[in-house]
Amino acid sequence: MKERTPLVAGNWKMLGDAASNTALLDRMRSAFDGGNFARIQALICPPFPYLALAADRLRSSPVVWGAQDVSDQAEGAFTGEVSANMLRDLGCTHAIVGHSERRGMHGETDTVVASKAHRLIAAGICPIICVGESLAQRQSHLTEAVLAHQIDAVVGVVKGGAAVIAYEPIWAIGSGRAATPEMAQAAHAFIRARLQAGGAPADQIRVIYGGSVGAASASALFVQPDIDGALVGGASRNADDFVAICESATQAKF
Ligand code: 13P
Repeated sequence: MKERTPLVAGNWKMLGDAASNTALLDRMRSAFDGGNFARIQALICPPFPYLALAADRLRSSPVVWGAQDVSDQAEGAFTGEVSANMLRDLGCTHAIVGHSERRGMHGETDTVVASKAHRLIAAGICPIICVGESLAQRQSHLTEAVLAHQIDAVVGVVKGGAAVIAYEPIWAIGSGRAATPEMAQAAHAFIRARLQAGGAPADQIRVIYGGSVGAASASALFVQPDIDGALVGGASRNADDFVAICESATQAKF
């Protein structure tokens, strides 16, 4: 059994409406209520407007819920922003920060990502900090340099250990082309070593993989020693696929 509890997180991105999200939450809840998922942690991250719905439908189920982003500010005149304390009020246990879609489309820098992670930890919420290289960076052999830079920016914040790193190579997201287990393992081992070098408790920090994870690709990823779960996009919009990925994580041994 993995020494770190595997985390399988669904990132719903900006998808669904009240009816479809309610149906999906209810299907996931009944699968988890009827199954044996005690060895893993399962998390759903719906869009902000459906967090209260998730809290309502998942309450006292084994599945927890979280947000896809948070403000880097504590409170104040920041129109449109959502604070870490507000997420805590909604029962969020986790929140994603630094997703490549936010770094790329909304100009989030490493400094902003570190501030967001800091706000979450201060509110008692576990940040899921996304890192990962573009295809051009990988092809130029810059993967480790990019990861080193992104990890170094947050290592001071995650020293307490209550954080998750998500390795999401940008070229694998939504492409249907997941990294090979060996490629992902190499990146995860590098990330863990970098956390260790920066003084963070690397053995405790879960490093999860994201990018075209599906029911078919999950098992081979989860048996890798440094892969502690998955951040699932598209496949988390299908209850059967998400539950199958969770089952693979439950069975992961090394
Ligand atoms: P896909 O699983 O759809 O590739 O998305 C991955 C992702 O971006 C999760 O945060």
